Amino acid sequence: MTEHSQCRITIQNLYKSYSTAPDQQTQVLEDINLDIHAGDFVSVIGHAGCGKSTLLRLLKGLEQHQQGQILIQGKQPAEHLPNLSIVYQDHRLFNWLSVTENIRMALHQIPLSKEEENRRIQEQLELLQLTPFKDAYPSHLSAGMNLKVAIAKSLVTQPDILLLDDPFAGLDALMRHHLHEELQRIWKTKKITVILATQDIAEQFSSRDAG
Ligand SMILES: Nc1ncnc2c1ncn2[C@@H]1O[C@H](COP(=O)(O)OP(=O)(O)OP(=O)(O)O)[C@@H](O)[C@H]1O
Ligand SMILES: [Mg+2]
Repeated sequence: MTEHSQCRITIQNLYKSYSTAPDQQTQVLEDINLDIHAGDFVSVIGHAGCGKSTLLRLLKGLEQHQQGQILIQGKQPAEHLPNLSIVYQDHRLFNWLSVTENIRMALHQIPLSKEEENRRIQEQLELLQLTPFKDAYPSHLSAGMNLKVAIAKSLVTQPDILLLDDPFAGLDALMRHHLHEELQRIWKTKKITVILATQDIAEQFSSRDAG
């Protein structure tokens, strides 16, 4: 192995295009190279349509690229799903389930005892300061609170890597700032690798700035 053996995620010479019309390909990602170490916090910043979500979907193994490679601890993304979680901009919560039951949904494919399920959910409720809202429904909570529920849901599977696809878009400036700080606190507490896609230059925090 090369120097990449210490990297959690290695992206090399990555190209991705979409077929946008007969005989027409639109190049979205071109010669992307990136090494992300275990425990890094990386912000991917760019204007609308530059390919941030595409990059995260490729990392999650939801799409295929045309050239280059993505390796997550030496494996292709599609082989690596269990320890990689993604939070989407629209949160994707179930309105008919409580906060607790929304978080529990993330565990339905993991064989755990009821006690362990409840312990993990409780841990996330505490980490995200959601305990007072554990029985509330998403439609009764603010957008920022729902985002916290979505983050709790993504963390309850105990991922090594958390992908966040522009999760703060649409929130007011104060809430964005507060949640960005919360995210950094969680990253430091859980010691996971975080990749945050955003259009907001103010969210350009990265662990290599953190010292
Ligand atoms: N399935 C698809 N078919 C064709 N074109 C697509 C598809 N998905 C994305 N694109 C195009 O690829 C480009 C990158 O899209 P992407 O959603 O990755 O951008 P983004 O940086 O996440 O934008 P935003 O900041 O608005 O979320 C856009 O021009 C988009 O229209
Ligand atoms: Mg996007």
